[in-house]
Amino acid sequence: MARKVFVTRRVFNEAISRLAAHVQTEMNPTDRVLTPDELAESINEVDGIMSMVTDSIDKELLDRTPDLKVVANFAVGYNNIDLMAATERGIMVTNTPGVLTETTADFAWTLLMAAARRVCESDRFVRAGRFEAWGPRALLGYDIHGKVLGLVGFGRIGQAVARRASGFAMKVVVHDPMEAPEQVVSKTGAMPVTLNEIWETSDFVSLHVPLLDETRHLINDTTLGKMKTSCILINTSRGPVVDEAALVRAIESNQIAGAALDVYERDPDIEEGLLRADSVVLAPHIASASHETRLEMCMIAADNLAPGLRGDRPKNLVNTDVWERRHR
Ligand code: GLV
Repeated sequence: MARKVFVTRRVFNEAISRLAAHVQTEMNPTDRVLTPDELAESINEVDGIMSMVTDSIDKELLDRTPDLKVVANFAVGYNNIDLMAATERGIMVTNTPGVLTETTADFAWTLLMAAARRVCESDRFVRAGRFEAWGPRALLGYDIHGKVLGLVGFGRIGQAVARRASGFAMKVVVHDPMEAPEQVVSKTGAMPVTLNEIWETSDFVSLHVPLLDETRHLINDTTLGKMKTSCILINTSRGPVVDEAALVRAIESNQIAGAALDVYERDPDIEEGLLRADSVVLAPHIASASHETRLEMCMIAADNLAPGLRGDRPKNLVNTDVWERRHR
């Protein structure tokens, strides 16, 4: 009998055709996030799912889908999936690493520049009909060139962000608990420092860490309190890395100069104080959202599903234990 796959959001036809050549494929026709019950009903007899960061793949859901063998997440991050529960049930989980590195780094820079030079605020100003004449002190922002860029997390995306900084003659300081190899650090010209040095010396702090117990609320009252009052915080990683209430306090008291965020603690709900603050740039989780990259991510997710369902090892298997246990 043909294997069945459910795709939880409306994705690209190219990927659906590729999947349909191997498996019976059904897709959420609505393009809205399904409720947990709707999701459970849609997948109760499937062998595989293509899931999104908006789906919570938790124990309860996994218990309601006994045939499930592969969860192919359409993302590099997989904190929306209870990895331990999937592993216990022998379900393979895959992600889409690599392909979105450069696009996400482009967007971290987009946010950095938008916040530093007040682009969104300027756009609102012009549209409100307030642009009457060039002003010697109108909408002053901060220089980017020659400043200090602090990167927390120096994996693939952090390194790509650092490479772009050389065009702006910036000093790049980095901190990564995994410690990037020496050649990578010297190739990008980045300087490894302590976290405290990042907070205290950076003009821009950009976050590139996964969401782990150790990184949850890494940005909090204490760390924000150590930053320069001219500092701008950029987050393209995961929302809960930032304590949003603390960020609002820091912005409202001018403890830091601004922030630019693509992800939120309770996505898609955003702290009221952030919505009110002119010095905060807000984006709706679109760091990897270029035509080219999202299509490629989708094809990779599809290409992880088909072999997984055939019993082969998918290229981007995250919980390798499942495979090793089976093939011991
Ligand atoms: C998006 O947030 C991703 O992890 O790919």
